[in-house]
Amino acid sequence: MKIEYFHASRFGNGEQIAIEFKRIMSERDITVNIHHMRDIRPKDIPPADLYVFSSPGCMGKPPMHVRRFLHGVNLPAGTRFALLNTQGAVSPGKDGQMPAAEEVAKLQRMTPIMTDILAEKGLSLIATETIDVFNIKGPLEEGWEQKVEAFADRLNWLLFYKSQR
Ligand SMILES: Cc1cc2nc3c(=O)[nH]c(=O)nc-3n(C[C@H](O)[C@H](O)[C@H](O)COP(=O)(O)O)c2cc1C
Repeated sequence: MKIEYFHASRFGNGEQIAIEFKRIMSERDITVNIHHMRDIRPKDIPPADLYVFSSPGCMGKPPMHVRRFLHGVNLPAGTRFALLNTQGAVSPGKDGQMPAAEEVAKLQRMTPIMTDILAEKGLSLIATETIDVFNIKGPLEEGWEQKVEAFADRLNWLLFYKSQR
């Protein structure tokens, strides 16, 4: 079982998540190859049982280079993918109030936008998870390792046990 993992980490948080994901999967005998999106062309993506894409947020969307990368992906219809994104942790405004849910949603459209780009190509989304990053550059939210582990377990189950039933 092999997973190809593509991230676009700018400050290192997304990369830290990728490394932890790889470590957890290696304990389950699953190989994970990590790539930064700037280091590989989407048409050179190697074959795999699953693709994981991971993006930070930028003005409510994945950054332009991530969207360009995803638009360039050329994989067979039905290919399975998962999204493990990072986003800015929501904090109270100057008035001490948390922003309204609709305002937050406008700034965190990374997962639906990435899903739409890949679904239009016939790719099949199997799971998503999002991890908060505080203060733009970090730290990651408390308990992020457990979140990554639960996500890895979910993927493992979907890929392996479910396909044997
Ligand atoms: C210019 C800029 C714009 C950002 N815009 C958003 C945003 O619209 N929504 C959001 O949730 N996070 C936003 N963030 C926070 C990023 O999601 C966060 O810095 C990133 O997830 C950190 O991950 P990294 O260390 O892997 O780069 C922004 C960060 C920067 C620097």
